[in-house]
Amino acid sequence: MKRAALGYGVNVEVGEVLLSGTNYREKPSSMTQSMKFLITGGAGYIGSHTTLVLLRAGFDVVVLDNLCNASSESLKRVAQMAGRAPIFVEGDIRDRVLLDQLLAQHPVQAVLHFAGLKAVGESVTQPLLYYSNNVEGTVTLCKAMEAAGVFTLVFSSSATVYGDPVTVPITEDQPVGQTINPYGRSKLIAEQVLGDLAASDPRWRVALLRYFNPVGAHETGQIGEDPRGIPNNLLPYIARVAMGKLPELVVFGYDYPTVDGTGVRDYIHVMDLAEGHLAALSALKAKKSRVGVQVWNLGTGQGYSVLQILRAFEAASGRTVPYRLAPRRAGDVAISYANSAKAALELGWTAKRDLSTMMREAWRWQIMNPDGYQTGES
Ligand code: NAD
Ligand code: UFG
Repeated sequence: MKRAALGYGVNVEVGEVLLSGTNYREKPSSMTQSMKFLITGGAGYIGSHTTLVLLRAGFDVVVLDNLCNASSESLKRVAQMAGRAPIFVEGDIRDRVLLDQLLAQHPVQAVLHFAGLKAVGESVTQPLLYYSNNVEGTVTLCKAMEAAGVFTLVFSSSATVYGDPVTVPITEDQPVGQTINPYGRSKLIAEQVLGDLAASDPRWRVALLRYFNPVGAHETGQIGEDPRGIPNNLLPYIARVAMGKLPELVVFGYDYPTVDGTGVRDYIHVMDLAEGHLAALSALKAKKSRVGVQVWNLGTGQGYSVLQILRAFEAASGRTVPYRLAPRRAGDVAISYANSAKAALELGWTAKRDLSTMMREAWRWQIMNPDGYQTGES
């Protein structure tokens, strides 16, 4: 098993100061001192922020990541910020032998499953890669969990499973299944696999967290989103235009039935999202009766158009972001934003950080790390 414990140059005092604004510093009451969690994909964008939140809350964390879309530098920085390192195992979730070894060596109480591929366009040209990573990977992970007697799982799902929503804001009971690309279908199939599994055995406790549009970065600018190549998503694209690395933003569609004709999404700060995972874990652990599968939207409940985002980013960065209007991008829906009342009621979780905070912290990460994690890689 390829394995590296991270523990260099950790400065607890600095970690304390840097994280003074973070919520969920205490362990939820349903969770005990000695709990350890496995985070698949924990070196990636959302996984690294969640690893930080769990370490800061006092839990032990084992990260399994094959680094196909991440750098271990993110975990070095998480260790410095938390004052404590996660155990890092470099490997693939489809490697059953590795999973069995890992779970035997590190008994965990739950798994947070982020590992997967997420580029919509790539999923169209390489569908088998997506079904293998996202579906086969999830099945292999669950087999290993079952064998090891671990039955609590938090799964990274997506608002993409709703397809073109019937109405907005989107509640969890809206129909799913109108997915239009292999990435979306791979998430939907993984959800269905987990639903069947939980129905077959009452020991399973599964949270399907349907994320809306994660953006931003940790307030220190130490960890953030580091896409390889030209970004597909709006925020990293805008940030690169603002840096002068790309000439202009191409706005996909200006004739949608929205406030200014451009597409509307529910942008959520990645730290709010990370904290939502701790709240979901706590809820899964707290329930005395059968849990089965629980679905929660993680969004703010507020939609913003592409041009509203562009203006907010310009205000936060003080830079002008040139753009041009272009035809719609295939597969985009006009409007998507969450009704997140269920998460508020059942998890006691709501997103706290506003749009200007998201933009300011996305920009701070970008200027502090113009080349992402390659900037100052140690
Ligand atoms: P990311 O690419 O930054 O993180 C995914 C991590 O998983 C990466 O570190 C990658 O190296 C790792 N990984 C991929 N395949 C693996 C495998 N087979 N074995 C081990 N490690 C593997 O992406 P992210 O934005 O942090 O997304 C995390 C999860 O959330 C993904 O499952 C994604 O589909 C889901 N999600 C993301 C968004 C979004 O907009 N970012 C929205 C909805 C859902
Ligand atoms: N957009 C542009 N120009 C760009 C990029 C995006 O105008 O260069 C627009 C899109 O048309 C859309 C909005 O910005 O209206 C947001 O687009 P993103 O690509 O950032 O995000 P999506 O809503 O298309 O999809 C994201 C993730 C999916 C996930 C979904 C729901 O990429 O994986 O959110 O969670 F499924």
